[in-house]
Amino acid sequence: MTLTRKDFPNGFIFGTATSSYQIEGAASEDGRGPSIWDTFCRQPGRIQDGTSGDVACDHYHLWPEDLDLLRELGVDAYRFSLAWPRIQPSGSGAVNEKGLEFYDRLVDGLLERGIQPYATLYHWDLPQPLQDIGGWANREVAHHFADYAALVAGRLGDRVRSIATLNEPWCSSFLSYDIGEHAPGLRDRRLALAAAHHLLLGHGQAVQAMRALGKPAELGLVLNLTPAYPASQSAEDARATQYADGYANRWFLDPVFRGAYPQDMWDAFGQDVPDVQDGDLALIREPLDFLGVNYYTRSLVSAQGPVRPQDAEYTHMHWEVYPQGLTDLLLRLQREYPVPPMYITENGAAYPDERGHADIVHDPERLAYYQRHLAAVIEATRQGADVRGYFAWSMLDNFEWAYGYSRRFGLFYVDYQTQERTWKDSGRWFQGLMARTPVAA
Ligand code: NOJ
Repeated sequence: MTLTRKDFPNGFIFGTATSSYQIEGAASEDGRGPSIWDTFCRQPGRIQDGTSGDVACDHYHLWPEDLDLLRELGVDAYRFSLAWPRIQPSGSGAVNEKGLEFYDRLVDGLLERGIQPYATLYHWDLPQPLQDIGGWANREVAHHFADYAALVAGRLGDRVRSIATLNEPWCSSFLSYDIGEHAPGLRDRRLALAAAHHLLLGHGQAVQAMRALGKPAELGLVLNLTPAYPASQSAEDARATQYADGYANRWFLDPVFRGAYPQDMWDAFGQDVPDVQDGDLALIREPLDFLGVNYYTRSLVSAQGPVRPQDAEYTHMHWEVYPQGLTDLLLRLQREYPVPPMYITENGAAYPDERGHADIVHDPERLAYYQRHLAAVIEATRQGADVRGYFAWSMLDNFEWAYGYSRRFGLFYVDYQTQERTWKDSGRWFQGLMARTPVAA
């Protein structure tokens, strides 16, 4: 398969993505307060390999070298997140200047290297003091988030190309409060739905507050969307698929783009539905400059539960490789919702890479994953989806949440003993694509 930049729409942006807790380390340096992930990682049994983000990729110290690697990679843009507990250690009020200065340096470092900064305000590291008052299940946290957003936008909004409020609110609500796999690790549907509502409210308030500042940065939201397909033609499987789609996708898409929660899910959630106050949905529907789409896999659904096709390929996360799902998803968004321009803000795959003795890591499966998914994006744009860019997850191997360091997603391999970064074949392939020369598979 041969892909070139010419296959993508004019001006299409290529980048890589990371997040603060997953790469920065320096967990108690320069006034950073604790986050819910610091707390969660210390609870036995929460993280598969018993690790934490205390050191991670030590990016807090190694950022100049990391940005040099990005320049060598040749990407147009870099998506990173800001750690709220570095900037407001108690989650509200007092500002830690040193925290803001770190991101000042990072943004300036990107601009000096000709790389456009794409910032995300919340990639899951909630200041612990806000969890102590109930976390996202407490409506007040939404207001604190909007204050924090305005603070950051005031400081960086002239220099960053884009600001996303939340990364994957489904994970910060359902995965964290209902399924219990992410911090704070609760299993309570009612709290999960309250958290989801307050996340969306915080997002809407943050967009409004940032927009009022009149800065040039584009404002948007990043959702993880998992298209659901029925395992058979039966009516039961169709119903189960509709529920899976409601739980994973429509619960967020509908309020953001249509100003209402989906009625079928509202009915299904029964007594657990959130307290929606007057004006909330208008705020949540605040117009956006872009929608960020994170796509990794699809779900295949039967009335008996999820189905795992035998003949399919799976990544180290045990997620099915299904590029067609990305084309279908983008076209569906374009068709069914009044979406703004879209970016693929994450797409990528974990495989158990080994460093060996060579100065390059061979990762043919990841490379093929990228090629097939980029082809899927091209197909969607040809059929009318307005997609403006693509960010590979991730630049570096990093702390993969409940999986610790046992899952590698990077274009660069990280040796956690020495903090050495090593190119992978997938990284070199991207470099070739960026160089505007045809790259062969
Ligand atoms: C989505 C999340 O945003 C990111 O933090 C995570 O590492 C990747 N998916 C892979 O699971």
